[in-house]
Amino acid sequence: MRIAIGLMALEAYITPMQPPPTGQSFVSRRDELTAQIRAETGIDEAMIAALVETFYAKVRADPLLGPVFAAKISDWAPHLEQMKLFWSSVALMTGVYHGRPMPKHIPLPIEAAHFDRWLELFEETAHEVCPLPAADHFIERARRIAESLELGVASANGVLLNRGERYRRAE
Ligand code: HEM
Repeated sequence: MRIAIGLMALEAYITPMQPPPTGQSFVSRRDELTAQIRAETGIDEAMIAALVETFYAKVRADPLLGPVFAAKISDWAPHLEQMKLFWSSVALMTGVYHGRPMPKHIPLPIEAAHFDRWLELFEETAHEVCPLPAADHFIERARRIAESLELGVASANGVLLNRGERYRRAE
């Protein structure tokens, strides 16, 4: 149940239909959660920066993923900044990221193999850069978001995946 609610919140977050809540009680509750996650996992902005920078250095050098990014991103500094804000929002619930990832992935020529490789590199990097509780925290969220993006990419291409099914393009 907790996971299902978390997933719904995450999906709403990835494709927001309305602005995030900003009321006083929501903000103070969120601040409490952020403080609790920081205390339990040791995640802070420096760790997020190290994770993002190390991960995207590997992605750029990767034969499968590198060309997909190179076709879209020429100036990496703004992308890395956005990704640090994204991970701050996802991992620490700070609410500092305001983008919409789903529409950015729908036009990309990606399928299951790309998501598998992305997660493989992300998990490897998280274990290199973070203590275990922090790595687990990042990885759990990355897996859920990757699944949600894969479902979105598939459905934008006319394929409705069942639970556990993967998206593979026709040859
Ligand atoms: C199949 C693997 C993936 C590939 C090849 C990929 C590629 C890309 C590319 C090329 C962009 C830039 C798009 C543009 O600016 O037009 C982008 C943006 C983004 N990606 Fe991915 N991505 C992948 C998986 C993921 C996953 C699993 C996550 C999250 C866990 C993620 C999070 C993001 C976010 C948040 C942005 C938008 C940043 C912004 O607001 O500018 N991506 N991705």
